[in-house]
Amino acid sequence: MSRFDRAFLNQVLARTSIIDVVGRKVTWDKKKTNTARGDYWACCPFHGEKSPSFHALESKGQYHCFGCGQSGNAFDFLMETENMGFSDAVETLAQRAGIEVPKETKESQERASKSQRIMSALDAARNLFKEILYKDEGKIARSYLKSRGIPEIDWEKFGLGYSPNSRTWLKDRLTAQGFKVEELLEAGLLRAPDDGKAPYDLYRGRLMFSIEDGQGKTISFGARTLEKDGMPKYINGPETPVFSKGFNLYRYNVARARSRDLPMIISEGYMDVIALERAGFAAVAPLGTALTEDQLRLAWRACARPILCLDGDDAGKRAASRALERALPLINAQKTLGFVTLPNGQDPDDLIRTGGRAAMAQLIENPTDLANFIFENEVLQFENLDIAEARAKLRADLRAKINEIKDEDLKSEIRIEINNLFDNKFHAQTQNAPKNNFVKNKKRGANQNSTIAFATDELRNMVNSPKQNDRPNKPIKRELLDIICAPILHPALLEKGEEVFAGLETDNKGLDSLRHGILDIFHSSNALDFSSLKHHLTKENDTEALILLSRLQKQPINPFVKAGIDVDLMFENWSLAVEKYMSKRALAKDAEELAVRAGAGEEDALLLLSQLVSERRRLSSEND
Ligand code: UTP
Ligand code: MN
Repeated sequence: MSRFDRAFLNQVLARTSIIDVVGRKVTWDKKKTNTARGDYWACCPFHGEKSPSFHALESKGQYHCFGCGQSGNAFDFLMETENMGFSDAVETLAQRAGIEVPKETKESQERASKSQRIMSALDAARNLFKEILYKDEGKIARSYLKSRGIPEIDWEKFGLGYSPNSRTWLKDRLTAQGFKVEELLEAGLLRAPDDGKAPYDLYRGRLMFSIEDGQGKTISFGARTLEKDGMPKYINGPETPVFSKGFNLYRYNVARARSRDLPMIISEGYMDVIALERAGFAAVAPLGTALTEDQLRLAWRACARPILCLDGDDAGKRAASRALERALPLINAQKTLGFVTLPNGQDPDDLIRTGGRAAMAQLIENPTDLANFIFENEVLQFENLDIAEARAKLRADLRAKINEIKDEDLKSEIRIEINNLFDNKFHAQTQNAPKNNFVKNKKRGANQNSTIAFATDELRNMVNSPKQNDRPNKPIKRELLDIICAPILHPALLEKGEEVFAGLETDNKGLDSLRHGILDIFHSSNALDFSSLKHHLTKENDTEALILLSRLQKQPINPFVKAGIDVDLMFENWSLAVEKYMSKRALAKDAEELAVRAGAGEEDALLLLSQLVSERRRLSSEND
């Protein structure tokens, strides 16, 4: 709807210094500011603070506050601090930059005047809906509002009103004020029937909610039935030249101002927002559709971590996972979400009525974070997670969800956390879960990841002591032992996997001779099992392998070989683990060599090493 095209806007921004624009409002902090980098810091003009967490970056033309999450470009800054509309902000900066503002074309003028007519019609409608609320006809709506606990003193503030149950009540009054039927259709106030008959009022016999833009002007309506079980319960205004559902949030204007000090709550409905706002919270809601990406962006403009507040019913849960799906590709450290699920199928309106502000505040102060929410949301999709296959599926689903996150840093942190959540839930001191060895392996996996997050430390360690694998007493990973011993419990694995198994070299002599022993018996006429292997190793006098074997016999559960598991799946899990081990080992060997060379001062080797480390990180995250 803007009369400026993108090229013009970019030109204005290109000639504008964000430091200049912001510098008129704030005093830069000399200590924290880095003039050489064009990174200027100050106390945030949007929220009270004593030490600067707000900065503007010239190279990006953006400002951002790490405290309250406010961010944007030069236009946004003027709109936020000078109470200007978008056009005014653009004109102001264009003038300052000495760029001529494009004359309005006939077309843009027409468009603007049409929009103005629509806005006037909406404003007039809002007044009519409001006035009738206090008259005889409005009695039904007044008593409804009272029954919902919204006192008269708040009716006007929330733009509430009533549309009488008549086909032409609004149409008659607005045409009498000089509006054309055509304009009222375009404003979304009338509806034209398919049969070509006369247009009639869209809103009839309903409680009216005014939907407002950033300046508090009415751009559409929501309308609730007053009949018990009336259908549809809510009607939402259609798309018009001044209103697009997906780009607006109910009560955004008020919530944005409040969210300088409070988190912005995204709730589901009109009544929830009103109850929340009346209780002092900053709250918005989408307008009769699922939350869109643009609505998320809108919320993030005001608040770094809006709280998605969802009804505890099934519909609420579905809404949550859809919202999550939209949000994941956009989320990062500065733009994320918190989650609150309401208990007992209540919505915020119910909760505030029964438990008061405090009950709501308690939930809002302790939102579920992203990792926990993703995890819980996926767990909910399963009825029974006692069997390994279901848990494997859960793992895959979680991995897919995590991969939806585009921000790499956040993605790897969330992955680590979710791995921990998984292990704590399924592999920690429970009696029936597959415990012990599996637990240890997985725990180790998680720890590995967390050191990987500090890649530079890792690099330094590698270069300082490259021959990690040559330590004589290096403990054998239980997982490796389980891989090598799986065929003892299930020799059929070797029927398909003999070749990989034969090539499965390790750095441990005992393990290797154990493996050779297994192959020997597999080729002999004896059946492969613990006792035949023990007999064989005793005969060969292979003490190291024998010690390993006894360690195994004390803890005989092998995660690769489980009772009842499908043989193909078993083979697949096992051979995947073999492959994973071999590629890790190959990478480790390469890394060792590179680390030695890097230690000798070869810069190329250090570069290759750091690439290899991130490749290894990618591998282990794909597999975990
Ligand atoms: P709910 O059905 O949860 O209603 O719809 P509510 O907000 O709790 O309303 P009350 O308390 O019964 O009055 C949540 C939101 O979904 C949209 C509306 O925006 C509503 O506020 N909705 C619901 C519709 O658009 N159409 C409908 O028919 C129902
Ligand atoms: Mn409700």
